[in-house]
Amino acid sequence: MAENAPEPASSSSPPDGSSTPPRGSGHDSGPAAGRFRALLREARVWDTGDGGGTSFPAFDPASTPESPLPLFYEWFADAAASGQAEPHAMTLATADADGRPDARTVMLHDADACGWHFATHSTSRKGRHLAANPYASLTFYWNARARAVRLRGPVVPAYASETSADLHARSTGALAAALAGRQSDVLDSRDTLARAYDAAWQRARRDPEAEATTWTGYVVTPDEAEFFQGDAHRQHVRLRYRRGTTDSDVWTKDLLWP
Ligand SMILES: Cc1cc2nc3c(=O)[nH]c(=O)nc-3n(C[C@H](O)[C@H](O)[C@H](O)COP(=O)(O)O)c2cc1C
Repeated sequence: MAENAPEPASSSSPPDGSSTPPRGSGHDSGPAAGRFRALLREARVWDTGDGGGTSFPAFDPASTPESPLPLFYEWFADAAASGQAEPHAMTLATADADGRPDARTVMLHDADACGWHFATHSTSRKGRHLAANPYASLTFYWNARARAVRLRGPVVPAYASETSADLHARSTGALAAALAGRQSDVLDSRDTLARAYDAAWQRARRDPEAEATTWTGYVVTPDEAEFFQGDAHRQHVRLRYRRGTTDSDVWTKDLLWP
């Protein structure tokens, strides 16, 4: 732990010796918490039991490409081929104007020389974060192969024409959801949502080329990418790529302690 890191919150006693435990600490000994902890202790990662589960592919960091994109393509194809559900689901972490982090799941729409693409509403919480602080982190976790990928870098909005073409190549439901808008606003009732979605579905069916004004593509151009390969004996491999500061096409690779 870093020298100046705050003390961890203890589950049994307040770290500052005061009688009031900080928010988030305190030991709940009720039956629900007990059942939860028993389940937590039983939970396993990378269960390779008879029912299939995780396999550990060989990964030799010495024979990896010079930049992360080809390796991402390779690992993505491998995850999809191994039956990993929704390999394109990723965690998107952003930070607000004060640097406070937040994270949620979004879908990957593309990955190319420009970066990793996703789409959302510019007016949502994450959209507001990105306007104030155009930097993000993405993580993928493919448990079928004990693999994770982690990227971080600046974010720019995609061209409106690209976002529009991408949206209109998707399903009517995707267009209807984008047309409904108001993502992350407080919802006064489920009825309001049902009415708004009915109207959005009708519009999407009537006008498949309708534009969703706040729906925006974003591109994360990583300056760091990490590939994590889990190992049955916990000698996990972590390969990090860092983009060059003088030549942005040149990447440095390092192994990291797991
Ligand atoms: C599997 C999955 C995929 C999702 N994909 C997207 C997406 O591509 N774009 C999006 O705006 N929200 C997506 N969501 C919803 C987000 O997780 C989130 O609830 C929403 O975008 C609001 O986030 P915000 O309040 O931080 O802006 C997805 C949720 C799940 C569970």
